[in-house]
Amino acid sequence: MQSLFGVRRGACLLLLTAAALPFAQAQPKGFIYDEAKVPPYTLPAALQFDDGKPVATAVEWRERRRPEILRLFEQHVYGRSPGRPEKLSFVIREEDKQALNGLATRRQVEIRIGDTPGFHRLDLLIYLPNKRQGPVPAFLGLNFAGNHAIHTDPGILIPRSWMRNDPAQGITENRATEKTRGATRSRWAVESILARGYAVATMYNGDIDPDFDDGFQNGVQPRFYKPGQTKPEPDEWGTVGAWAWGLSRALDYLSTDEDINARRVAVLGHSRLGKAALWAGAQDERFAIVISNNSGCGGAALSKRIFGETVGRINTAFPHWFCGNHKKYSDNEAALPVDQHMLVALIAPRAAYIASAQEDSWADPVGEHLAAVHADPVYKLLGVAGLPDKAFPALNKPVMGTLGYHIRTGKHDVIQYDWEQYLNFADQHYKSAKR
Ligand code: GCU
Repeated sequence: MQSLFGVRRGACLLLLTAAALPFAQAQPKGFIYDEAKVPPYTLPAALQFDDGKPVATAVEWRERRRPEILRLFEQHVYGRSPGRPEKLSFVIREEDKQALNGLATRRQVEIRIGDTPGFHRLDLLIYLPNKRQGPVPAFLGLNFAGNHAIHTDPGILIPRSWMRNDPAQGITENRATEKTRGATRSRWAVESILARGYAVATMYNGDIDPDFDDGFQNGVQPRFYKPGQTKPEPDEWGTVGAWAWGLSRALDYLSTDEDINARRVAVLGHSRLGKAALWAGAQDERFAIVISNNSGCGGAALSKRIFGETVGRINTAFPHWFCGNHKKYSDNEAALPVDQHMLVALIAPRAAYIASAQEDSWADPVGEHLAAVHADPVYKLLGVAGLPDKAFPALNKPVMGTLGYHIRTGKHDVIQYDWEQYLNFADQHYKSAKR
């Protein structure tokens, strides 16, 4: 493998650029973008115990195999997270019942982790549709550039945590300013979401753990170190694990909000934040729906195909994302005891939707689709519809069962088209669901 595609190792030179530009999706040279060049690989069977015995019943899955797979992902991919902290509280910082010209109620909540005054804070922004009767279902996702960037609404509070400097965007002292208000609004179909009767909630990923390799000093991790500990153990959470953990803390708050139906919260994310959404949804069974938008390597894409981004490349470019043990699989994907179809299977029987983009080869659309295909037997075992059609679908032709998938035309991004499918998927799911 390595001699055939020896370029993979050298290609990490382009890294800095990719790391510095969360909005751009590079297509670095020296990686496999040709289906014919995908080497043979063997996927670990979701429905087989580690000792080789088959998983024959839903009870066996639920009680033994699911926990086994969860442990494998903790141990080898994302690392263990601490769970809900003992000291967790919520403060409503701001509310406007007539936001967005009367369309919505805007609520901004400070999630406090730890004791006052030394708490770690996460700022959650929520829009609730004003046309509502009773608690509403919600979409929850992290954002890359601050809550204030998702909409031009002047009422959104500016982030208070570290942000990557970008003088052209007015970010010079690692702090966001007015200049990026609304900068990523094309990625958040706020008005459409509200019009369909859903709330939308979001939090800046940097509030949980800034997206750079700081030796795990600046994010939430140090709060959980044991005495004398200075960084996570090799099987403890990296940054993606922390982001996923933060999503669960946001859900902790949403579960206390009387305007939200906490049994109907969809967790979603784009790209690196899609990896976090999948891991959050895999672990936290309170999420009713899990949506991965162009999540790629370490998200929905099968690692063992080594198509587009590889484990070696991601671990070099973003050494802070996964747990220390994950480095063992750099240029060594065949040794991984799991692959990403098993991550999707952990979501079963809850609903999961995976979305790809035609021009996003780096994220391996076929590998993302195959994760749903290979998770499907677990859905079937649990007695739900799973993926209605296993063939790779035509462009812009979504497939929706309990598992959903689409590949749309265009680039690595979240666009209105994607949101329309997520809304349709959620509508369809809740119509048929008992919860
Ligand atoms: C890089 C990285 C991907 C990631 C993407 C993003 O391209 O290699 O794994 O998904 O950034 O988060 O936009």
